[in-house]
Formats: sequence, structure tokens, C-alpha cells
Amino acid sequence: MSAIFPPAERLWYKHPIDRVEGTWIAIALIWCLIMFAMMVGWHIWGKQNLSTETYRTTPEMFMAKTQAMVDKYTVRTEKDENATPVVAPPAGSDVYFIARLWSFYPVLELEKGKTYKLHLTSMDYNHGFSLQPANINIQIVPGFEHVITVTPNQSGTYSVVCNEFCGIGHHKMVGRIYVK
Ligand code: CUA
Repeated sequence: MSAIFPPAERLWYKHPIDRVEGTWIAIALIWCLIMFAMMVGWHIWGKQNLSTETYRTTPEMFMAKTQAMVDKYTVRTEKDENATPVVAPPAGSDVYFIARLWSFYPVLELEKGKTYKLHLTSMDYNHGFSLQPANINIQIVPGFEHVITVTPNQSGTYSVVCNEFCGIGHHKMVGRIYVK
């Protein structure tokens, strides 16, 4: 059977496969396998990928850990309407960051060149963690705790933008991370 012309007979699936068609199926299959292997390989060799660990959590459990960190390491408050605490956790520690309608909590202050374990969750619905201007993009899903190992390599003020539509205040949902 030709790969170009329509089948001459109705029971086309009983005909032997054409060389051209078979070759294309083989090429497509091999390419699929290469792409699949690259997904795994990029976690090891790619410089842009974040490999996240994910655990189940509840808003109560996560809030307790976040509040403990805030109580211990708050250095000042932000001059915004909520007076959001600015938290400077020690290098190497676990850092908790909450997304909820329609804000991020708390504001983080990290040190350049130091490594942290960033834990993310949502208190209510799906939110996004889009770190600007770095090109980092993560979904924040309620009930799950995403753990990402981060080492900021540039100092500056970063914005965290919610990039999952989450209702009337979605466009106002912006958080902040300072890197010193
Ligand atoms: Cu949160 Cu959009």
C-alpha cells in the first residue's frame, strides 16, 4: 500500500505496510524515544531544569512550619498594606513560601551563593510561582508540598508572579524575594 495514495481496497489494514510508511513510523518512534530519554537526561545535564520533590501536606501543617520560620527569622516588615514580614532564614535551611488568594507569604531575603531548600504550597487553589526576571516557573498545588533546592546566583529584587488564573485578584498576586 502506498503512503501517499488512498487505499485501492476497502480492507486496507490487511495489506502489507509500504516501505515509505514503515520507515516514517520507525523514524517517529526512534525520535520519540530520543525525546523521552532527553527528558530524563536534562534533569542531570540540563542547567535550566528544576527537579522538584513533592510530598503531601495540609494547609495547617504547612502553615505551622511557615509561621515557626517567620517567628524565628523575621528581620523587618515590608511597607505594603499587609505589612508582610521579611524573613531571612539561615543558609542551608528549609524555607517555606505560601501562595493563597491573593498573596504570597512571607517575603524572603536570601543570600547570594547560598543553597536553600524552598518549600512551596497553596492554602486554597492552584497558583503559580513564576520568578521574575529569572525564567523559573512552577505550579503550586494545594495539598502538595513542592521542595526545590535553590542557589541564587545573582543579587537583586525578584518578583514572584502567580501565573495560574485564580480569580478576581489574580493580577494583584505578586510576591517578593530579595537576594543579597
Ligand atoms: Cu494565584 Cu493567580
